[in-house]
Amino acid sequence: MDGLAELARQAAESAWAPYSGFRVGAAVRAGGRDFPGCNVENASYGLTICAERVATFAAVSAGARRLQALALFTPGEEPSLPCGACLQVLAEFADPALPIRAACASGRVVDTTLGSLLTTPFTLGKGGR
Ligand code: THU
Repeated sequence: MDGLAELARQAAESAWAPYSGFRVGAAVRAGGRDFPGCNVENASYGLTICAERVATFAAVSAGARRLQALALFTPGEEPSLPCGACLQVLAEFADPALPIRAACASGRVVDTTLGSLLTTPFTLGKGGR
């Protein structure tokens, strides 16, 4: 997980965050490969996409659909956890046991799982996935 967290830290350097100033990096492990992503903001604010979804979509686009781990890197003193929208997207491609490491600029780290952050993902019902 340490390597994935370092990749997330590096990915934050590519963030496009001129509006919030909050530069986020993420990295997912899937199919034995690591995929980085950063937040990409837009002057039309609602079009912004979070780092976790960029990393997840990079993995899925490469054919790696089962996420094995996620690391997140944010600025500031305390780690941030993935937003609700990103948790729902992660739930599409990962088990509740997915390990999530949230690290931040101060060096503090929180280790958790997808299932503990999102107890009831939306589904289309039996067979809907
Ligand atoms: N952001 C992420 O990249 N991941 C999250 O889980 C929540 C927020 C980004 C979106 C926006 O560019 C900035 O952080 C401030 O909300």
